[in-house]
Amino acid sequence: DLADIGVTGLATMGRNLARNLARHGHAVAVHNRSAGRTDDLVREFGGEGTFLPSHETAAFVASLKRPRRAIIMVKAGAATDAVIEELAELMEPGDMIVDGGNAHYADTRRREAALRERGIHFVGTGISGGEEGALNGPSIMPGGSKESWEALGPILQDIAAKVDGVPCAVHVGPDGAGHFVKMVHNGIEYSDMQLIAESYDLLRQALGVTPAELAPIFREWNEGELGSYLIEITAEVLDHVDAATGTPFVDVVVDQAEQKGTGRWTVQSALDLGVPVTGIAEATFARALSGHPEQRAAAARVLAGPSVSGASERSLIEDVRHALYASKIVAYAQGFDQMAAASREYDWNLDLGALATIWRGGCIIRARFLDRIRAAYDADPDLPTLLAAPDFAEALNAAQDAWRRVVTTAVEIGVPTPGFSSALAYYDGLRRERLPAALVQGLRDYFGAHTYHRVDREGSFHTDWSGDRTESQTS
Ligand code: 6PG
Repeated sequence: DLADIGVTGLATMGRNLARNLARHGHAVAVHNRSAGRTDDLVREFGGEGTFLPSHETAAFVASLKRPRRAIIMVKAGAATDAVIEELAELMEPGDMIVDGGNAHYADTRRREAALRERGIHFVGTGISGGEEGALNGPSIMPGGSKESWEALGPILQDIAAKVDGVPCAVHVGPDGAGHFVKMVHNGIEYSDMQLIAESYDLLRQALGVTPAELAPIFREWNEGELGSYLIEITAEVLDHVDAATGTPFVDVVVDQAEQKGTGRWTVQSALDLGVPVTGIAEATFARALSGHPEQRAAAARVLAGPSVSGASERSLIEDVRHALYASKIVAYAQGFDQMAAASREYDWNLDLGALATIWRGGCIIRARFLDRIRAAYDADPDLPTLLAAPDFAEALNAAQDAWRRVVTTAVEIGVPTPGFSSALAYYDGLRRERLPAALVQGLRDYFGAHTYHRVDREGSFHTDWSGDRTESQTS
């Protein structure tokens, strides 16, 4: 008998995805470069379903039903190209190669185009949810052709997380759309975590409380509009005590945040698309700042902090909750703007409401609030910004005074809150009737004759700054 689908690359994510497929009654071909992992999987979990193990790629491909469907779960990068080539050589037109790693969408576009020439469907797929999600139901974001979705969709929806019975898997769009959307998901993940970290830091410093005392606050927040996986696990991590030292776990972890690159990619792409994703950028840069211990040590030795050190107001807790929610709305609004911009740039025709829907479950950023985003796009698919959706505008208006107090307190007591501050600056920037960009335009015209537009007439204008300052119309 032949397998319905195959998984090659059996590290934790690949192994768990293969088990998830098998548990749902799909016969799964499994393969790994080193045979040990394949054998271990079958030995340990063979009872969960039908696995067809192979030690060679040729045997793996031969064990698949036609049209063949093979999922690659290897570390993103050069290895992916090698595995794709190996599979493609053994495949036939109509077959499908699915890349479930965190590949860069530009690589996915390149690979899709090259394989399309050979008649093979290449499906770059975002898969979110970590180990646990891969096994019990991830959020799945496949790109690629419509035909490949027809063949893969039912299986992917079968193994995906479900919210209210709706599977967290949808055809995102052609070529690199799936990996692009997963990239933005990760950027938002960075931003969510940064905002949570700022909330924790500010409350801990200002109120002088312990991590364990903060855990119940996050637990309570998790019951309300902030309800989300990341808030839930924040309470768990804050509660955790290091067994070796008896001190809070967060105090024994080196305070340098690492990254594998998806946040950086999100910011790089946003710069190219001209979309301000300040929340994601600040989160990415905050990780970078944390990773420079030599600069931090040098600065800590000589740079003074404020004379004020605490803000004992218990009302700060509720204010921080508002600031966190408002800043989160900004971060998601920016991420969704970036997806909209990419959709226009690459003709992807992304359905933003559908993306909010598949992020409601399975993925790392799953949150109650995604229902609201979906509702906002359902009500108006051409929403200029999520901030202007009635529901969010109301929430932001209700939060803004508290948000300002939080940023003020943070500045006063010297706790860095780049996420909160930049999100508030974005909010104030967007709602501003007149921006000082007009002065920037004037300066550009002064030193470089770069011209400007007028509020009262069509055309481009230049003022003769070094001469008699008369204005001329240049086009
Ligand atoms: C997910 C996660 C997953 C991974 C992050 C970590 O959606 O399941 O996002 O993809 O854990 O990419 O990224 P960093 O190492 O860059 O923090």
